[in-house]
Amino acid sequence: MPLQFHHITKQFTVQHQPITVLQDISLSLAPGELVAIIGSSGCGKSTLLRLAAGLEQAQQGSITIDGQLLTGIHPDVSLVFQEPRLFPWLSVKENIRLWMINLPLSAAQSEQQIAHYLEMMGLEDFANAWPHQLSGGMAQRVAIARGLA
Ligand SMILES: Nc1ncnc2c1ncn2[C@@H]1O[C@H](COP(=O)(O)OP(=O)(O)O)[C@@H](O)[C@H]1O
Ligand SMILES: [Mg+2]
Repeated sequence: MPLQFHHITKQFTVQHQPITVLQDISLSLAPGELVAIIGSSGCGKSTLLRLAAGLEQAQQGSITIDGQLLTGIHPDVSLVFQEPRLFPWLSVKENIRLWMINLPLSAAQSEQQIAHYLEMMGLEDFANAWPHQLSGGMAQRVAIARGLA
């Protein structure tokens, strides 16, 4: 599943002034490849990830997955945010499940996936805990489990 950015240009408007955050960015990521995007604070790293996750739209250029145009959120792309962003009124398990509702999984398969990734994160004993009962690192691991699931 190559993920490709083709000549992406992204602008934001801040205080009525356009800011060009990404200009003519092209990048190709191969299956299984681990890539770090490094740059100064505010240079557009998160914006690039948010575009791939379908949370922003570029003014120019396109993104493809396996040659198919990405038009919004896609089940093969998940983003782990800088902050855990867990819903405080849902348990750990339900926080993960909520993000899986559009996946073609039976209830039993979802349950199994949730258990699998919680175990991977060392959080199997906290499936029914509330977000406020977690440490910062544990909350971030729930967010990673959610991204993987
Ligand atoms: N939703 C937004 N509205 C306006 N400006 C934004 C928005 N998101 C990001 N920006 C601006 O885009 C630039 C890049 O931000 P970002 O991609 O978050 O940077 P970083 O490389 O630190 O992750 C910054 O100048 C930021 O102010
Ligand atoms: Mg960032």
